[in-house]
Amino acid sequence: HAMLMWHKLVVIGMSAESGGGSGSVPAYTEVDVEVLVVGAGAAGARTAIELAEHGVDDVLVLGKRNHGDAHTTWARGGINGALGTHDPEDSWAIHAADTLNEGHFVNDPEKVETVTEQMPERLRELDDWGMDFSRTESGEPDQRYFGAQSFRRTAFAGDYTGEALLNTLVEKAQEHEVPYRENVMVTKLLSDGERSYGAVGFDMESNEFLLFNAGAVVLAAGGYAAVYNRHSSRDDENNGDGPALAHDAGARLMDMEFVQFHPTGMAVDESDPEWAPWSGRLVTEAVRGEGGRLFNADGERFMERYSPDQMELDARDVVARAIAEEVAEGRGTDNGGVYLDISHREADFIRERLPRMYERFQELGVDMAEEAVEVAPTSHYGMGGVAVDAHGETDVDGLFAIGETMAGVHGANRLGGNSLAETVAYGVAAGDRIADRVAAPGTVPDDLRETVVEPQFADLAELANNDGEHAVTDIFEELQELMWEHAGLLRDATELEAGLDKLDAVRQQASDMDTGGLTSESFEFAIDVGFMLTAAEAVLRGATQRDESRGAHYREDHTEVDETWERNIYYRQADVGGMATHTEPVDTPSEAVQAALDEGHELDYHQLE
Ligand code: FUM
Repeated sequence: HAMLMWHKLVVIGMSAESGGGSGSVPAYTEVDVEVLVVGAGAAGARTAIELAEHGVDDVLVLGKRNHGDAHTTWARGGINGALGTHDPEDSWAIHAADTLNEGHFVNDPEKVETVTEQMPERLRELDDWGMDFSRTESGEPDQRYFGAQSFRRTAFAGDYTGEALLNTLVEKAQEHEVPYRENVMVTKLLSDGERSYGAVGFDMESNEFLLFNAGAVVLAAGGYAAVYNRHSSRDDENNGDGPALAHDAGARLMDMEFVQFHPTGMAVDESDPEWAPWSGRLVTEAVRGEGGRLFNADGERFMERYSPDQMELDARDVVARAIAEEVAEGRGTDNGGVYLDISHREADFIRERLPRMYERFQELGVDMAEEAVEVAPTSHYGMGGVAVDAHGETDVDGLFAIGETMAGVHGANRLGGNSLAETVAYGVAAGDRIADRVAAPGTVPDDLRETVVEPQFADLAELANNDGEHAVTDIFEELQELMWEHAGLLRDATELEAGLDKLDAVRQQASDMDTGGLTSESFEFAIDVGFMLTAAEAVLRGATQRDESRGAHYREDHTEVDETWERNIYYRQADVGGMATHTEPVDTPSEAVQAALDEGHELDYHQLE
């Protein structure tokens, strides 16, 4: 599974020396492009392909790391679409109904339908493009059970579905000769609050400062789940870049309080150097989808008490809280988790369906075919993000946000397998809209150049090698710990408000950091801290305001769903600085989806037994 390389960008614009005349403004390079895609995972790649297929080829895809290496590769268990391989009674409308049920009806029904209606076609297209799907005996893409879904609708490639998806998309992008540039960090979008003009950033390998003049900007830069210290991503991804950049550019955020805690992150002995780096990393839901069972330290299959009908495949929030309760009541393992056991299945079956999980645990000395592994909840996905319309466009003209960066598809909780679905469906939706619109590269107005671009480069230059009082890693960790402690799985007003106070203190410290040079990891993390502060503030504010429990947002001081809260919280920059919020009611689903909801489909877990 070698990482595929994209078509290499050869021409990168002209160099400008100290534009604006200020001696403190470093030299920077300008790049003119019709469409700038920030993020080189599945959502960004699919957008670029859609644009290419519409004949828009003046596109540049930026990635923070080497291309082919994006967070998408860590998505494991599958991608949803009502193909009906095993269950022909499934339909896109039932998929939409399941998504709304799981999202506790604060999803935007139009966005849900945009995804679910397209997915059968998107999956067939990926199949045509050569995606390495696991297959049935007759050669169709196989589909497995996943939590809280009425039918087997999760198509998969073993347990490396994200990797297989991204390889397929990168190969297709290569065919279209889509230009890319790797190792670029975008630090600011260019907007006057009404219109988007491009972005600025720097090359993390060469130090070069970069100004991108772009007719349209697509943020496909991931989510914010890594603002928590126990999380399933790598440390340098999902730090909130996308939502924070959009918020700074004047776009609204939405639903930020809804953070998904995946029930089964690895629970490890943190003092063991071999295991410690794996803490919180995903043990795919596919283990349970293929029959894995959860046991507490007393050997009890505890989901019988919490969810006798759906058992281990109930919604993620239900299973995560059940595990947390078992551990809190003293029935957890020494490493603060419970056991996940699939050893009743044949070893060959496990190796075929869950190859990456099997290999990872085997390397750590555990044979999943013989024994259970330890798991506990981990921060996995931000359901919230940037508020967008049905095509992924924000309130700022020409600025789009898609994939995990956008909000609206998942509501208060997300179905496993719907995130990869959203990446390709919204890549197409945004690509189509942009192709209808964009005609030329943007031109950054002179006043923005002077008031935003050049000060930004000067700030970056000043931040590099800053000899401040606080180590970047200390601030990074303090922020993540406070989020876990104050806005985690179980929340209440007192803890949330204390979290906001602590966040203020972290913000103060972050203004005086000891950073390395532009190409150092600590500099990258220093920029991330800024993004994380925005995302964390939104989570804390929204979670404080939403005084009910709904989906992944559980308030111990308001344990019930409050019907009057069938609303979304929006976040925007306040006129006086800081963040302001307001709420709006959600829309109603279409007749087809309402009919599917009324039919009341539900997962029949016991078919798995
Ligand atoms: O558990 C998993 O494989 C995760 C899938 C998802 O979050 O969609």
